[in-house]
Amino acid sequence: MNYVYVASVADVQPGKMKAIVVESKEILLVNVGGQIFAMQRFCPHAGADLCAGKIVDSKVICPKHNAAFDLATGEAVDKAKLLFLKFPTKRTETYRVKVENNSIFVEA
Ligand code: FES
Repeated sequence: MNYVYVASVADVQPGKMKAIVVESKEILLVNVGGQIFAMQRFCPHAGADLCAGKIVDSKVICPKHNAAFDLATGEAVDKAKLLFLKFPTKRTETYRVKVENNSIFVEA
């Protein structure tokens, strides 16, 4: 498995996100309580930028229709919503992360 250096830990403070590109894949780094996660940046429902979403516990909430994605598994633990309707929502891709000497590496 090939890991690529993407950022310093100081670049993604706890409770923050950072958009990166790894080998043409748009990826979102998320720091939850010091643990770094990596998932696809754009929402699988209708393409919203999850970087503009919110972190709630270990999930990212999409800014457009409020689907919630588990950072560890990518599963949509809450579906996309519009008014009182809910829509089928695919999971996001997730990527393995390694942290060494304050450097973040993501599986390429
Ligand atoms: S675009 Fe993300 S939930 Fe619709």
